[in-house]
Amino acid sequence: MKRDYNKAFEMTALYEISKLLGSSLNLKSNLRGVMRVLSEYLDMKRGTVALRNNSEVSIIAAHGMTEEEIKKGRYRLGEGIIGRVAKLGSPIVIPSIGDEPLFLNKTGARKIIKKENVAFLCVPIKFKNETLGVLSVDRLFGSKVISFEEDLRLLKIIASLIAQTVKLHMEIGKEREAFLEEKENLRQQLKGKYRLANIIGQSDRMQEVFASVHSVAPSKANVLLRGESGTGKELIAKAIHYMSPRAKGPFIKFNCASIPEGLLESELFGHEKGAFTGAMAMRKGRFELADGGTIFLDEIGDLPIALQPKILRVLQEKEFERVGGEKTTRVDVRLIAATSRNLEDLVSEGKFREDLYYRLNVVPVFLPPLREKIEDIPLLVEFFLKKYNEENHKSVSITSDTLNILTNYDWPGNVRELENTIERLVVMSRQKIITPSDLPFNIRDYNLRARYASQIKDALPSTIEDIEKARILDAIKKTGGIQAKAARLLGITPRQIGYKIKKYDLSTPK
Ligand SMILES: Nc1ncnc2c1ncn2[C@@H]1O[C@H](COP(=O)(O)OP(=O)(O)O)[C@@H](O)[C@H]1O
Ligand SMILES: [Mg+2]
Repeated sequence: MKRDYNKAFEMTALYEISKLLGSSLNLKSNLRGVMRVLSEYLDMKRGTVALRNNSEVSIIAAHGMTEEEIKKGRYRLGEGIIGRVAKLGSPIVIPSIGDEPLFLNKTGARKIIKKENVAFLCVPIKFKNETLGVLSVDRLFGSKVISFEEDLRLLKIIASLIAQTVKLHMEIGKEREAFLEEKENLRQQLKGKYRLANIIGQSDRMQEVFASVHSVAPSKANVLLRGESGTGKELIAKAIHYMSPRAKGPFIKFNCASIPEGLLESELFGHEKGAFTGAMAMRKGRFELADGGTIFLDEIGDLPIALQPKILRVLQEKEFERVGGEKTTRVDVRLIAATSRNLEDLVSEGKFREDLYYRLNVVPVFLPPLREKIEDIPLLVEFFLKKYNEENHKSVSITSDTLNILTNYDWPGNVRELENTIERLVVMSRQKIITPSDLPFNIRDYNLRARYASQIKDALPSTIEDIEKARILDAIKKTGGIQAKAARLLGITPRQIGYKIKKYDLSTPK
């Protein structure tokens, strides 16, 4: 490159640099671009931008250096030339690196170049009187003695452009921090309302569940937990038990769908010695084992109709006989039942006794499917990441676009599927950060299909606002105009729906 500066040439460089500085929100990559442009205009071997952070200056972007070399570029204030410029706030020019004892070559990037032919120009990046960092370049020159005044002038202008950008980024950073802090405060306040250890649920739907748990736990009332598989029924059953006065008693779990019908009765009520072939000794059943505590009967809808009167009797009379026995056994047991099936349908089909249904259904608690509490997804992801990182001695995190995909997926297996997915991602990850390409194909594909489907559906171009408006109108119609219900259907808070209704002026029926 020629040394004779021509103004137009310089202006082009400055124009390109200022354009680059504002090109994205990523300061580092913008600065990298600036150094590249600079190297094209100056006969520059290397260039670095180092920024100040308390008592240190570290290189954050460079041209002509490897990542490794960049990492080594950290200087205390006053250390070496970069450290000195940062401390003093005025430029330093080393006409020939080879003659300079101050020159640290800390990064080791200059092994190849013969030091004599390289000048080092270093200018402060200043905003008003504050030194934010240091811009430096290695300038190649031949054997001629030259002055670097022109170079310095250009570098100072560029440094001041960089300073403005850096300052702006610092301000944005501060605002962002303040915003995040406020958000966290709000979250903490909300959290305080209802909390259950190790159960995540900031969504309105889960807050309702927590409220029911708090009010029902101290009593002896039967609870019926309803919800799809993987929504946390067992987790809630345990929470009720451990928050109840029976916490010190046993928590006995039994899945009514887990064993053949013929064995169910003896499993539940026990048997006497010799009650049937193979009954070598007396054996207690689950109800007896749960005495003084809680029995959790999962998939109660699968309980055979022949056994239902016996369950009803335990609930009403607190007594039963073991299989093959005459003696009546009395127990003090609290029942929590769960079902993923529609018990009302089973009742009307004659597969489930109505009297038992009413007995069980004293306090029903509905656990929402994950797709109806999407605001809890990021919290659950965070919770499971922490859990499985600890278990596996890892520190894997997730990118925001990956989290986005997880939030948009419909999770037919609910929280269990989400938990398994995160566990697998943590266990399998070889990188520190999970990106969309790490996700199982069906989850990534779901999002693609969903997007594609909505594109097909709205053959005419429509804005996000249009889609949102249509969904809200639809939900309001479906719920007979009850906003809170419509909000629930959409998985947003009543406040959010209120805001949107106002925004789109949907309050008057159209
Ligand atoms: N709200 C929640 N917070 C944290 N973990 C949850 C939550 N809901 C479910 N899980 C976890 O998801 C998995 C499935 O929950 P589980 O209670 O067995 O569901 P269900 O009995 O409805 O099939 C469990 O590992 C459970 O700990
Ligand atoms: Mg279960």
